[in-house]
Order: sequence, then C-alpha cells, then structure tokens
Amino acid sequence: MTRRRVAVFISGGGSNMVSLLDDMAREGHAGMPCVVLANSEDAGGLARAAEQGVPTAVVDHRPFAGDRTAFEAAISAALQPYAPDMICLAGFMRKLTGGFTDQWAGRMLNIHPSLLPKYKGLNTHARALEAGDSLHGCTVHEVTAELDDGPLLGQARVPVLAQDTAETLAARVLVQEHLLYPAVLRRFAAGNREMLILQS
Ligand code: GRF
Repeated sequence: MTRRRVAVFISGGGSNMVSLLDDMAREGHAGMPCVVLANSEDAGGLARAAEQGVPTAVVDHRPFAGDRTAFEAAISAALQPYAPDMICLAGFMRKLTGGFTDQWAGRMLNIHPSLLPKYKGLNTHARALEAGDSLHGCTVHEVTAELDDGPLLGQARVPVLAQDTAETLAARVLVQEHLLYPAVLRRFAAGNREMLILQS
C-alpha cells in the first residue's frame, strides 16, 4: 500500500495534530505524516511533532502582513521538499485564499468546533450557548475558498448541559475532536468520503 503523505498545519498547542499523528502511527492507516507546518515558531505543537519524529516547518505570517498570496507562496515552497499528497488543517488560525485552496481542492481537510453550517468563524461555543442550543459539537470538512465551508465529512455531537460555560463546553467538544478527526482522516486517506456521525 502506498500511503498518502499528509501535511498537518497548526497554530497552537496542536492537540488535534497529535491525535492525527497518533492514529497514523497505528496499523493499517492509508496516510502518513510528512511534515507539521506552523505559522509561528511559538506554536507549542511543533515540539510535540518533533518528539514524534515528524519533520516541522515554520512560515511566520507576520512578515507577509497584507499579502496573503506571498504568504501562501512561502507555504507552498516550504511544503515542496516533503511532497505532501494532502493537508489537514488542525487549529490553523490563518485564512487561506482561493489561490491556495483551489490547488488542494479535494485534498485539504479542516476541523471546526461547531456543527456546521452553524457558527462559522470564532467563539463558536459561546454562540451555541447564547442561542440556547441543546446540541453542539464539531465538524470535519473539505476546505474551499469560503471560510469553514466545503463538503462535510464528519460530525460529532455533544449535548449542551444546563450548567455549561463556553469553557466546559469547549473542553467536551475537544474530546470529540480528538476522536472525530482521526476517524475521518483514516477513512478519507483510504478513499472514503462518506459522512461520519459520532454521537456522545
Ligand atoms: C480546536 O478546537 C480546533 O477545532 C480549533 O482550534 C482548536 C485547536 O486546538 N479550530 P489544538 O491546537 O488542536 O489543540
């Protein structure tokens, strides 16, 4: 089996990235990590990737302020030596333009902490609480030029509890993210794009 080479993009602690790396290290996975790329050298996940023996790369977005195309060209150049077949965004907090997402159409995934199409963008947990939702969760989807849009590949549903704060809800959703994203990537790398539903 030729395994698909997976680049994982992070901005922070990288707990979702670790869950993907851990699963790709298990038997029978059709994907293998080829590089973890961050947009800041301060991203805590870089050390965690290195501990697992995965190459890391940093493309700091700050010198490219106002020029997303140049930032994306630098990302493409940084990826080139690792020859990825696909990309997983895992808490990558930079918007990508159509110029980049089109190159990776059907080959780039993202995890978002809401039941899309609800609550695209930030502060999803607070928004779900404000709306009085009884169900919240997370979604893995293919990335297109529209933010937090694109074909859905999987969702994990999390009941909202009466005493929930944005923090307690976020923590329970994150537990599900760590189950959902590896499960979707495992299927996707093997060619299965059917929607996966996890219910907690
Ligand atoms: C996750 O909740 C992810 O869904 C969101 O940012 C968080 C990243 O966490 N976009 P981590 O860096 O994977 O720990």
